[in-house]
Amino acid sequence: MPVITYDKQPYACEDGETVLQCLTRHGVAIPSSCESGVCQTCLMRGVQGRPPAAAQQGLKDTLQAQHYFMACVCEPGEDMEVVLAGADVTHLLEAEVMAKSALNDDILRILLKPAQPFDYKAGQFINLYRPDGVVRSYSLASVPRQDECLELHVRVLPGGNMSTWVRDEMHPGDTVAIEGPVGDCFYVPGRPEQPILLVGTGTGLAPLWGVLRDALAQGHRGQIHLFHGSYSTAGLYLVDELRALEEAHDNFIYTPCADEPGDDMNAGVTCERADLAALAALPDLKSWRIYLCGHPDMVDVMKKKAFLAGASLSDIYTDPFVYSMTSS
Ligand SMILES: Cc1cc2nc3c(=O)[nH]c(=O)nc-3n(C[C@H](O)[C@H](O)[C@H](O)COP(=O)(O)OP(=O)(O)OC[C@H]3O[C@@H](n4cnc5c(N)ncnc54)[C@H](O)[C@@H]3O)c2cc1C
Ligand code: FES
Repeated sequence: MPVITYDKQPYACEDGETVLQCLTRHGVAIPSSCESGVCQTCLMRGVQGRPPAAAQQGLKDTLQAQHYFMACVCEPGEDMEVVLAGADVTHLLEAEVMAKSALNDDILRILLKPAQPFDYKAGQFINLYRPDGVVRSYSLASVPRQDECLELHVRVLPGGNMSTWVRDEMHPGDTVAIEGPVGDCFYVPGRPEQPILLVGTGTGLAPLWGVLRDALAQGHRGQIHLFHGSYSTAGLYLVDELRALEEAHDNFIYTPCADEPGDDMNAGVTCERADLAALAALPDLKSWRIYLCGHPDMVDVMKKKAFLAGASLSDIYTDPFVYSMTSS
């Protein structure tokens, strides 16, 4: 008889009983609606113990990989510790600033070493806290098994509260507070032949740099196309590193794009917006897995266009870099 632990209390589950029925029978209130695995109102996450596959049917594979499941159709095969979806997503911890360097005129690369083990996936994001409580989200460009530190790419916005503080006042050796990881914009192994399209603008390259290297390291064999866009060639970065990866991997194709023509347009940079260049090169996106990161308008428009070009919504992962409206 499996035991379900919820909020530190153990509850014995009877034969044929679901996690929802077990907890409800013991007087624990869990939100539910359809009770047939459709609406996802009862979404929970297994902290210990794996949920059965039947309880994860229809969930995005990024959620499955994080052991999310529907409590109403989960007949546990083993003891499980469970939490409501969202209840434990993040925790606050300290990290030491290990390095700060320029990726181009506007973008800084920050390396952070968390004080405790930090379990994350390349492409997720963290929240970075300033000592006075200002907080902003930054994507993780690092890959857990390859990189010792967490890597952030921070674009310095003129007058930006956090980004100018990072430029002027955050130094190697300092300790900062971070929270996370958050988000489902990451690579999930299991379909190594599936073609992958990565489209990012500006520092939208940060999560894609992580996802790309993670996919290649995990032996992804399908084509991987990366379209990275910027307002001009000066806004592009990691160009040499990406070209080196393209040389090393037959299945990786890199297309740097700039909205405005620059002096070095003949150096292999496409003079077109990244999303438009991607759609022109790949008009049929049926069966593709797609990652869209960066400017919220690009992400929104490209998501719709990718769907119209045949991609399934469950195969589209997005990270719109929504700016704070309050600027504080
Ligand atoms: C999930 C997620 C992931 C993110 N990942 C990254 C990342 O990897 N790297 C990164 O640099 N940022 C990322 N961001 C954006 C980041 O969280 C901050 O919003 C950004 O750094 C600006 O913060 P700030 O405090 O410097 O500026 P704020 O003080 O918040 O000022 C921002 C203000 O600048 C103005 N503004 C908006 N866009 C522009 C623009 N393009 N140019 C000039 N001014 C503008 C707007 O008025 C806005 O209110 C991410 C956001 C989200 C939601
Ligand atoms: S209550 Fe609808 S999926 Fe569980």
